[in-house]
Amino acid sequence: MDSAATSLSPVPVICAMDEYELRYRANVGRGVHRLAMVATQKYADAHKKIASFIGARKGETVITKNTTEAINMVACGLDWQKGDRIVTTLLEHHSNYLPWLRLSEKHRVDLSVIPPGQDGTFDLALFEEAIDDSTKLVAVSHASNVLGSVTPVKEISALCREHDCRLLVDGAQSVPHIPVDVEELGCDYLCFSGHKMLGPSGTGVLWMNSPDLTPLLVGGGMISDVSVDHYTVAGGYQRYEAGTPPVGSCIGLGKAVDYLDNIGMEKIRDHERELTTRMIEGLSSIKGVTVYGPPPGINRIGVVSFTMENLHPHDVAHILDEAAGIMVRSGEHCCIPLMRHIGTAEGTVRASLHLYNNADDVERLIVTVEEISRMV
Ligand code: ALA
Repeated sequence: MDSAATSLSPVPVICAMDEYELRYRANVGRGVHRLAMVATQKYADAHKKIASFIGARKGETVITKNTTEAINMVACGLDWQKGDRIVTTLLEHHSNYLPWLRLSEKHRVDLSVIPPGQDGTFDLALFEEAIDDSTKLVAVSHASNVLGSVTPVKEISALCREHDCRLLVDGAQSVPHIPVDVEELGCDYLCFSGHKMLGPSGTGVLWMNSPDLTPLLVGGGMISDVSVDHYTVAGGYQRYEAGTPPVGSCIGLGKAVDYLDNIGMEKIRDHERELTTRMIEGLSSIKGVTVYGPPPGINRIGVVSFTMENLHPHDVAHILDEAAGIMVRSGEHCCIPLMRHIGTAEGTVRASLHLYNNADDVERLIVTVEEISRMV
């Protein structure tokens, strides 16, 4: 139950990576020998699968190290001027907060931070007030890694269009769990991680509507021509992937996308929703337990944070592991401003689901938390 931190890879994903390593390992976009051709084709195919998984019929789908790198590529790739405004929220993971905080300190960009309600939901009027004609970028999480709440991205996108500003969506917690379509969302950038969606660690994705960013890195593989005093960048995702990419891992991520697609994201969403509903009901009924986030329903994912009276979240996590083999994350979840905002200075215990969790897992969690609550 720690899939919001990282998920488990199914065997076909691991086999796809093994196959690359054992049978056709070669660099991509460089050689003309047979293995280079096969690797290059499979690497390009993985990009196509990932793009199609998020409904991207245009734009560029770039492989990054993780969501953090993808967001930093946007922060470093736009041309900031003093007085430009960035609108973000207090709900954000540090990955979607620190890049903007650093810009505000370094480039005197004006940072507007919208507070969520106690349950992680937003009053859209606050976005309406904050987004104005000086706003260059709005950066929001699609789903909170602490509260499980889903942000009304479509509505925020409409406000962005009114003021002609770009919208970045941190999809690290949504893309692995619910159907996500970039056209429907109306975003300019979508960032997410491979390892949270059954793929390998060391892979992330930056989808961009148009290639309007200055590449963060320059070097091999991203140029069409270089003279002594000038270089011309390549088109396509290559422009943003300087250096040898994680070829086998990207092919593994392509396989993870196949795996999720074969099951169907609606089915995965519904399965996790059912388990989440029971988890919230069960945990909320235990004396001394406080559950955070919105009530069960359509506006949340299977990330459930809770605290227990008189027990530190890390102690709860240790006991859950030792007593029942339940793995959860505890602490601040890389969201210190949010923790302070919702008044949980020591953080929370966070149980997070994926498609492989079942009703027995949830019952075991509820029963064990009940037992712990009787001990204190
Ligand atoms: N972002 C990951 C989490 O929330 C690591 O646990």
